[in-house]
Amino acid sequence: MFSKNLASLVAITGLSLSGLASAQGIAGSAHDFSGDTWSGGEICIVCHAAHDADLSVAAEAPLWNHEITTSTFLEYSSGTLDGTVTDDLNTTSKLCLSCHDGTVALDSFGGATGTDFMTGGALLSTDLTNDHPVSIDYNVTDTGLFPVGNASGLGSTIDSDLLFGGNVECASCHDVHDTAGNGALLRKDNAGSALCLTCHNK
Ligand code: HEC
Ligand code: HEC
Ligand code: HEC
Ligand code: HEC
Repeated sequence: MFSKNLASLVAITGLSLSGLASAQGIAGSAHDFSGDTWSGGEICIVCHAAHDADLSVAAEAPLWNHEITTSTFLEYSSGTLDGTVTDDLNTTSKLCLSCHDGTVALDSFGGATGTDFMTGGALLSTDLTNDHPVSIDYNVTDTGLFPVGNASGLGSTIDSDLLFGGNVECASCHDVHDTAGNGALLRKDNAGSALCLTCHNK
């Protein structure tokens, strides 16, 4: 229904689809692997399993089915950082880095060892020194950060759902399932740096 209306809108106005927000949801997103033969045509199975899930990983790893990276990471640091970076990154960010550090194949899931490794711009490597800090605590006494409270009034308080065990992780900024369709799998459209200004009082 929506795509049909969109198609006719494009036909009538000559609008280019590339200027519009991408579709919502994981299907068709960068995390839809159903087109890769090794996925068996499924989406969720590459990361989650309904049974025999891996319980050895972080508590925030729901029914995890993908091989976990064992890399040691170089983490962001600076003279003005107030928070503390957790050394082992043993959190949701490790789930992401299990494909995005390039050491574990995309198709290493369900106990199988794959061969399809990530390349290109989405590959972060194990050197995270030039990336926004993750596995860092959200220091509630830091006046440069908005206090943690309940959702609605973003910009004055931040939703505690953005934090994982009190920390900022990859999933604080990104929605792995692309629920909102904001581009770059972002939780919030970053026009006017709105995503950054959710937490930073600048
Ligand atoms: C590329 C890996 C990946 C794929 C594919 C994926 N997930 Fe997830 N999922 C994650 C990660 C990582 C988390 C934990 C981080 C978070 O909650 O944002 C998660 C969390 C969840 C959660 C618990 C938190 C929440 O958002 O409710 C559910 C439920 C879930 N996924 C369901 C699904 C379903 C259903 C599919 C398939 C349609 C799917 N996922 C596909 C990686 C994935
Ligand atoms: C099963 C492997 C896998 C896991 C786990 C995974 N990703 Fe990805 N991710 C990919 C692949 C493959 C791509 C597409 C790379 C490309 O297009 O070259 C991608 C793309 C992305 C992109 C770019 C999207 C775009 O549209 O440009 C972002 C952002 C991203 N992932 C974030 C995450 C985050 C955050 C997590 C954890 C919460 C995560 N990924 C977990 C495999 C994974
Ligand atoms: C503080 C917010 C924030 C955190 C934390 C964060 N990202 Fe991002 N990420 C972004 C934004 C914003 C973009 C959009 C492009 C840009 O500004 O570089 C992005 C872009 C990306 C891309 C696409 C890069 C490309 O060139 O295709 C990938 C992949 C990605 N992030 C993965 C991750 C992973 C994995 C983690 C955790 C290790 C992570 N991000 C943590 C905000 C964040
Ligand atoms: C979920 C909350 C959150 C979001 C969203 C977020 N940040 Fe951060 N950011 C933090 C926390 C927490 C720190 C660590 C602060 C500290 O300890 O000084 C941090 C650290 C930083 C630092 C390093 C500060 C230093 O002293 O070295 C910069 C720069 C920064 N963020 C910029 C950004 C930008 C740009 C964006 C948007 C792309 C963004 N942040 C989005 C929470 C967030």
